[in-house]
Amino acid sequence: MLNFANKTIDENRQGEAYAGELATNAKPGKLFYIESYGCQMNFSDSEIIASILHTEGFVPTKNVEDADLIFLNTCSIREKAEQTVRKRLTEFKKIKKQRPSMLIGVLGCMAERLKSKLLEEEKLVDIVVGPDAYRSLPQLIDEADSGTKAVNVLLSREETYADISPVRLNSNGINAFVSIMRGCNNMCSFCVVPFTRGRERSRDDASIVAECKDLFEQGYKEVTLLGQNVDSYYWVDPKTNHPVDFAMLLEKVAQISPSLRIRFSTSHPKDITDKVLHTMKAHANICKYIHLPVQSGSTRILQLMNRTYTREWYLAKVKRIKEIMPECTISADIMTGFCTETEQDHENTLDIMRQSKYEYSYMFAYSERPGTLAAKRYTDDVPDEVKKRRLDEIVKLQNSLSLETNKLDIGKVFEVLIEGNSKKSDLQWMGRNSQNKVMVFDKIENNQLQPGSFVHVMAESCTQGTLMGKIVNLS
Ligand code: 5AD
Ligand code: SF4
Repeated sequence: MLNFANKTIDENRQGEAYAGELATNAKPGKLFYIESYGCQMNFSDSEIIASILHTEGFVPTKNVEDADLIFLNTCSIREKAEQTVRKRLTEFKKIKKQRPSMLIGVLGCMAERLKSKLLEEEKLVDIVVGPDAYRSLPQLIDEADSGTKAVNVLLSREETYADISPVRLNSNGINAFVSIMRGCNNMCSFCVVPFTRGRERSRDDASIVAECKDLFEQGYKEVTLLGQNVDSYYWVDPKTNHPVDFAMLLEKVAQISPSLRIRFSTSHPKDITDKVLHTMKAHANICKYIHLPVQSGSTRILQLMNRTYTREWYLAKVKRIKEIMPECTISADIMTGFCTETEQDHENTLDIMRQSKYEYSYMFAYSERPGTLAAKRYTDDVPDEVKKRRLDEIVKLQNSLSLETNKLDIGKVFEVLIEGNSKKSDLQWMGRNSQNKVMVFDKIENNQLQPGSFVHVMAESCTQGTLMGKIVNLS
């Protein structure tokens, strides 16, 4: 499962609006505004949507008040995510009352899950488009303009938008996300994604490499390869019949330039192979960081979740990663309060966290999603207050694990990619090391460093979220 930017995505990354520059070749036309919710894949999809609209002459705006078209690219992963979007739709109601010609479109996972119900329930929605139907947006806008409610929620077995060059939204010009596949075949019992994003399909490797190369040539310094389950990436070149797996794709992207950093997300523990681990080890520019969702530390719960591994199997995978790359950090998604979860199951989760020593986790309380296997088969029987208490314990433990792992880094020197000023002071830089840890350090007067520069930094102190250090030499 693709991860979210932050454990409290609902508060942190949601609702980012398009703040990109107008492209120079944009025809003067209708203004569109797009807001994205949920996982990185959704943010990446919004860049494809912006590209499709831009090609048709629509012009992006960051000001919702000016927009002729408002799009919400939505998330269904938890009930709270959907509630947030519904709330936002009622806010748009006010704007639409003043400007009835304005169109409102719901895109992404909620569009797919609720389909035309959205048009009926939220009377103000004019357009509903699922994740595989974005190419039909211009036509649907035409239909909606002429007064017809427009819906396309067809899922595809082939669509990867491989030929569409995304318009980078809210970009810092340093890090970019590149989708390498879409959908998911895993059917974890709690998860709505296989229903909203459809079957897994991989994107042609040549188009991925070309997009990454282009980003590098534009000055980007880091690409994150995105997929719900990147380790099952598999593409067969139709001309040569040569198969490309994820390890091979990683290698191809790593070879673009030693000064292009590569990250990827998300890895399913059952699919990440020694071949991938050895490829990571072999290339200094592939970041030594793996997001490896565990979900639960109890084998019984993992079975109910249909995760297809046991607690022991997961721990053996963590051990293997550390054997091959001792410096590699691991983060996880952890879910608490899944159906029938006992105190003992919960203790097992706390224990697997301690053993895996996650440097970070994204932690959630289970939220039943209609249509999923769990909703059909099991009862959501852990009371909310128990879920909340267990989640608090998990968060508390993770905070102490993060602090512990950060303390172990004090005295070490890391190569850091500078992303910008630190949040607290513009006399300090902020960047991340290969292990994905945030590092903050004083600027040096009169030197050439800028966002996008690589620099060596020694960690001198830490909090649970940040390593503070000083520049030791330039790289
Ligand atoms: N309830 C709570 N969390 C969920 N996730 C996925 N589905 C649900 C759900 N129904 C979490 C998983 C996944 C992450 C992206 O979101 O931990 O890995
Ligand atoms: Fe991730 Fe499992 Fe959901 Fe697929 S089904 S997106 S692997 S949590």
